[in-house]
Amino acid sequence: MKNIHSYIKQHENRFLNELFELLKIPSISADSEYNPQILQTAQAVADALEKIGCENIQQLTTQGNPVVYADKIIDSNLPTVLVYGHYDVQPSDPLELWDTPPFEPIVKQTEIHPEGAIFARGACDDKGQMFMHIKALEFLIATEQLPCNVKFMIEGEEEIGSPSLAPFIKEHAELFKNDVILISDTGMISNTQPSITTGLRGLSYVEVEVTGPNKDLHSGFFGGAVANPINILSQMIAKLQDENNHITIPGFYDDVYELSAEERSEMAKAPFDQTEYNKALNIAKEEGEKGYTTLERSSVRPTLDVNGIWGGYIGEGAKTVLPSKAFAKISMRLVAGQDPDKITQLFTDYFLSLAPKSVKVKVKPHHGGKAYRTPLDSIGYQAAHKAYSETFDKAPVPQPSGGSIPIVSLFSDVFKSHAILMGFGLNSDAIHSPNEHFGVFNFYKGIETIPYFYKHFTELYTKNA
Ligand code: BES
Ligand code: MN
Ligand code: MN
Repeated sequence: MKNIHSYIKQHENRFLNELFELLKIPSISADSEYNPQILQTAQAVADALEKIGCENIQQLTTQGNPVVYADKIIDSNLPTVLVYGHYDVQPSDPLELWDTPPFEPIVKQTEIHPEGAIFARGACDDKGQMFMHIKALEFLIATEQLPCNVKFMIEGEEEIGSPSLAPFIKEHAELFKNDVILISDTGMISNTQPSITTGLRGLSYVEVEVTGPNKDLHSGFFGGAVANPINILSQMIAKLQDENNHITIPGFYDDVYELSAEERSEMAKAPFDQTEYNKALNIAKEEGEKGYTTLERSSVRPTLDVNGIWGGYIGEGAKTVLPSKAFAKISMRLVAGQDPDKITQLFTDYFLSLAPKSVKVKVKPHHGGKAYRTPLDSIGYQAAHKAYSETFDKAPVPQPSGGSIPIVSLFSDVFKSHAILMGFGLNSDAIHSPNEHFGVFNFYKGIETIPYFYKHFTELYTKNA
């Protein structure tokens, strides 16, 4: 790519300042109070796409938050890359744990990011990574080196499970038609060992409610004689996993894709240090499904985790109460083969079967999505591999991720194209946590690598056509 280094160097401060403006807007999709900021962010993304020379800018309405569309179509004989990203962010609480305010972006040095990192909610997930694509396209248009057609789909509900997107893409399948889907919303191993995310886990998410007596009771008068829903809920949850950390829901593993011995030994080659891992989390020992490594447990094996549990008295001091209700939110990360609706049903049947007669139990399903795997022999993967090799001067390794972007597998089904997950974040970037950040190195490296993807994808596509 001609002049890529000089272009980035010349505009680096402006790139950063423009990203800061996006990061200042609290586009929290989980809280409807931030709806005006959601709309403001969609507008800002649309403006940024217009400014670099995109065409057909639209803020498309959905049942929920708008989807920003823009394109640059140069020749209908050339392939089309669809860039997907999200402009919404996670809530920033607990606020008191942030060293600097979440919506006042600032660059600070860290041990892992000696060049500095941008601290703000959404810096890495996903405004910073989504914005790399806008700046990469700016470069390609400005220097007249764009080799293919590009379309953007930037949505505002990813962090709440993309509830509006499934009907939306079916309705607009023609508009978003593409030959490959390019996404920067994941991570890589380290700044010296690039990796390409080759898998995402699926998700089944449920909320359960256990009801005992019709009101909170005096735990002295009634305790011991009436079922305590919190005690019962705890017992039921405990039964969902056995002593080997296998999930006990009948049929849960039926459709799980089991890795071949070769795939497992390939995965084991990724650099990983259990001692470092434990140290970073301040845990004395790791814990997980028997028979699998930490890397496998956290990417290619399904899981069941309680995300939140509540009920009874949680205020200051002691209140002797036997609560009427107890609740929990439970997520199951799924792997290739598993169907989220089927898993939700299996969970529901089993969970209800665990309930003693003394309580009533309700299971409410939330969002879900299937797992995704990028085929390593696809031209999209090969193009990404070449791109990283050039800009990092080192071959990237494939790495399945434990995270989820639930809409990706549906994209791939609807558009009949593969999704390529070129993530530039690091595991230590604290996405969803206080002090989320994104390395300045990573931001610029992403802007540098993306144009090479376009170049190689177009070359491979044209050669194969
Ligand atoms: N960008 C993340 C997913 C991710 C991050 C995948 C890092 C792989 C590596 C995405 O925004 C996210 O947070 N997804 C949620 C699911 C969603 C339904 C809220 C997740 O994985 O918990
Ligand atoms: Mn994300
Ligand atoms: Mn996220």
